[in-house]
Amino acid sequence: MIARMATNPLPQFPPGFLWGVSTSAHQIEGAVEERDPSVWDAFTAEPGRVKDGSTAAVACDHYHRYPEDVALLADLGVDAYRFSVSWPRVNSPGGLDFYDRLVDALCAAGVRPVPTLFHWDLPLELDWLNRDTAERFAEYAAVVVGRLGDRARKWITLNEPAEHTLLGHALGAHAPGRRLLFDALPVAHHQLLAHGLAVRALRAAGAGDIGIANSHGPTWAASRRAEDVEAADFYDLLLNRLFADPLLLGRYPDGVGELMPGHPEGVEADLKVIAEPLDWYGINYYQPTRVGAPQGTEIEFGGLTLPAELPFSVRELEGYPVTDFGWPVVPEALTELLLDFHRRYGDRLPPVVITENGCSYEGIDDQERITFLDGHVRALHRASEQGVDVRGYFVWSLLDNFEWAEGYARRFGLVHVDYDTQKRTPKASYLWLRDALRARG
Ligand code: NOJ
Repeated sequence: MIARMATNPLPQFPPGFLWGVSTSAHQIEGAVEERDPSVWDAFTAEPGRVKDGSTAAVACDHYHRYPEDVALLADLGVDAYRFSVSWPRVNSPGGLDFYDRLVDALCAAGVRPVPTLFHWDLPLELDWLNRDTAERFAEYAAVVVGRLGDRARKWITLNEPAEHTLLGHALGAHAPGRRLLFDALPVAHHQLLAHGLAVRALRAAGAGDIGIANSHGPTWAASRRAEDVEAADFYDLLLNRLFADPLLLGRYPDGVGELMPGHPEGVEADLKVIAEPLDWYGINYYQPTRVGAPQGTEIEFGGLTLPAELPFSVRELEGYPVTDFGWPVVPEALTELLLDFHRRYGDRLPPVVITENGCSYEGIDDQERITFLDGHVRALHRASEQGVDVRGYFVWSLLDNFEWAEGYARRFGLVHVDYDTQKRTPKASYLWLRDALRARG
């Protein structure tokens, strides 16, 4: 039985490698009454935005139940816990106290806190179309590091600015629900600028271990036909290079810089800020994408409606097992992605941490999740053996939680949450990972 796979130990990574799990504030905390509103509160209040009509008003009630969740982390035996700090909560009286208590509890349990400063829950009064939001973000970063920086050493500025731009502002599937298509590009630029300004603010406060969590995945052309290859290349630019090139190379991919809102001194001045050196580079990896030439019609894909006017079309990736979300399971694409990054960015690529990897499956006896995680950890190890400097692996997610526009229907947790009773039940995958971490010795 696969549950016995704990006897098959995790591959050996270099010393100091961090095993962790990730969550985000909006997806688990609940306690919305005890903080200012975010763009996600407004979005989920609009009928039809979230598939099951749910909101994150209670979610996993982590805000009140964090001691129990920290105990689960401690028992799991992970080195680190990646969580996000809710900017609207920090803006509310007593909001930072919560993270203070959480960080204390983690330290007491011997789990390293890894805060992410922005995981999509922007304060409702702010807007990434405004350049000023970048400056505000740096001020907020300074406040948070000022309070937690004595205990939290490892920091993440932003989570997946690509998804927040594409899903939230270009396609309207996430908050704030805009459908601007390519007019959403300033949102990407302002988040990247916010990142660079926050790196400076964190360093000024003495933080020295700073990264970002960007989502990346290989793009596979639907065929060798020139129009499919060109479309796939464009998709790769949008998902991968648009966010990695400015951070790692200090420039936008060809043709993109001109589209970005200028600073009085031009985009070059901003790129200097954006390319502040990073201590490590976080990658959220889920799946590769198969892309072909536009088909001239709207496409329904992964719960999204992709408009006909996009210069590419996303195609089904056949021949692989799929999760309950319908996402293909392709561990070897993680090795491919990392080797590509290693080739593309060479010495400019700092050590890599997988800041998210996981899958949605129903059930507590989740043997498929064990197979998924085991396969991806091995794929990561193969990249490490081939010269990619990998320093950590974080499973998405500790708990089942509010999966954005999908509501509670998708379950990514190592721990099952009964949303009626808030009872937490470790799944087979939790026990597998716990045993495997213990077997490390
Ligand atoms: C990436 C996002 O960062 C996270 O919030 C989300 O739940 C997972 N992907 C799964 O879709």
